[in-house]
Amino acid sequence: MAKDNFAVAGLGVMGRNVALNIERNGFPVIAYNRGNENAQRMRAESAGKNVTVTQSIEELASLLNRPRRVLLMVTAGSATDRVIDALLDHLEPEDVIIDGGNAHFPDTDRRAMRLQDAGIHFVGCGISGGEEGALWGPSIMPGGDRAAYERIAPVLERIAAKTEDDGACVTYCGRHSAGHYVKMVHNGIEYGIMQLICEVYDVLRRAARMETSEIQAVFQRWTDSPAVGGFLVDITAQCLSKIDENTGDPLVEKILDTAGQKGTGKWTAQSALDLGVPIPTLTQSVNARILSGLKQARVEASGILGRSEVSYDGDTADLVSVLHDALYLAMIASYAQGLHLIQVASREYDFGTDLAEVSRIWKQGCIIRSRLLDPIKQAYLERPDMENMLVYPAFASIVNASLPALRTAVEVANRSGVATTCLGATLAYLDSYRSEFLPANLLQALRDNFGAHTYRRLDKDGVFHTQWSR
Ligand code: 6PG
Repeated sequence: MAKDNFAVAGLGVMGRNVALNIERNGFPVIAYNRGNENAQRMRAESAGKNVTVTQSIEELASLLNRPRRVLLMVTAGSATDRVIDALLDHLEPEDVIIDGGNAHFPDTDRRAMRLQDAGIHFVGCGISGGEEGALWGPSIMPGGDRAAYERIAPVLERIAAKTEDDGACVTYCGRHSAGHYVKMVHNGIEYGIMQLICEVYDVLRRAARMETSEIQAVFQRWTDSPAVGGFLVDITAQCLSKIDENTGDPLVEKILDTAGQKGTGKWTAQSALDLGVPIPTLTQSVNARILSGLKQARVEASGILGRSEVSYDGDTADLVSVLHDALYLAMIASYAQGLHLIQVASREYDFGTDLAEVSRIWKQGCIIRSRLLDPIKQAYLERPDMENMLVYPAFASIVNASLPALRTAVEVANRSGVATTCLGATLAYLDSYRSEFLPANLLQALRDNFGAHTYRRLDKDGVFHTQWSR
């Protein structure tokens, strides 16, 4: 048996593509799927390649060189536990299991503990890039057992996306469940930026009454923007250009306006609440998806609840330019919030995550890759312990320059009755974050009034309570 072989368990489209990527990079692959359909697809797609497809875990274990390396590419949740259970009967101490799914990070910690008892190393590993990325180079976010990571690093480095100037898009993200945590927050940022883009589209569509083809032209121009340019703007231009074959209309106009979600955005919001880190842009993107799901209720309410909106009657080119700068600022705020969350989580959970490295590996391969990630990486290289990159000089000057545009964008949308759930949340976040005084003085008074919760004063030390009714 050839040295350095590697197993992939779970042969859905992501698993098959990762397996083909690993094989293309010179490692013999043992590809496992219990079910027949995916195993057959793998056989067809890997004909003539150094891929052995098996439907037996026992055979998978017997074909692998020791210590074995098995990458799980199964649906996050109980399916992952089932495959781990089956593997446990056949693996031995020092073998390494890598979970490449979108696992919830507490599950990763639980699985690592369990496998530790059997002497098996566990690497929770976020993989981003969709089907294309899996095949041609994803961004890879492994964490957990460092020694086990070193054993799989040569393979991960080969299969990962490559930046032009900054190496392969894989790095050790930190101890414990750091890899899946970083991937979860990646997805939280993904949710945020996608919703921001949708709101910009909506302002152009419903406030400025632009046709889809005109909006497409705007996003097409922005694909070259050094500010907002990146994968999500690229695919927005692509989606808006697609024509429905049946009707000849833009396909997006035919799509039901109800968003799906698999949970990573919600977990990001939950974790941020647990850790006390404000990430309103990301959290509101989850709420926007939930609201989109209330289609029936929205249809009914649209006939009951009044409308008072007015169309935008200003210059369209001006509005486009305002929205560009607003999107730029809100994208910066999305990365700032997500990275702030990772920074705090890293301290709280002892991950030891290097944010410059995280920004570097997001430069290519992943869904949130954009031109912004290079300056973000530079900022964290200079200030690794920075809590919030918004106060870093290069970003502070963008915030100061673009805040009026974000304010105008939200004003135009508000007047037109277009919901800017995330643009609006971002504006409020920035206005709060840069505000020396917030109305929490009154909040403290109210808490103390009804619950004797006490308060502190600006002008003297100590803890105070007042009989407010007297
Ligand atoms: C990625 C994506 C990927 C998946 C999302 C979709 O990085 O490749 O994030 O993991 O597309 O999880 O999530 P929703 O279905 O929740 O939008």
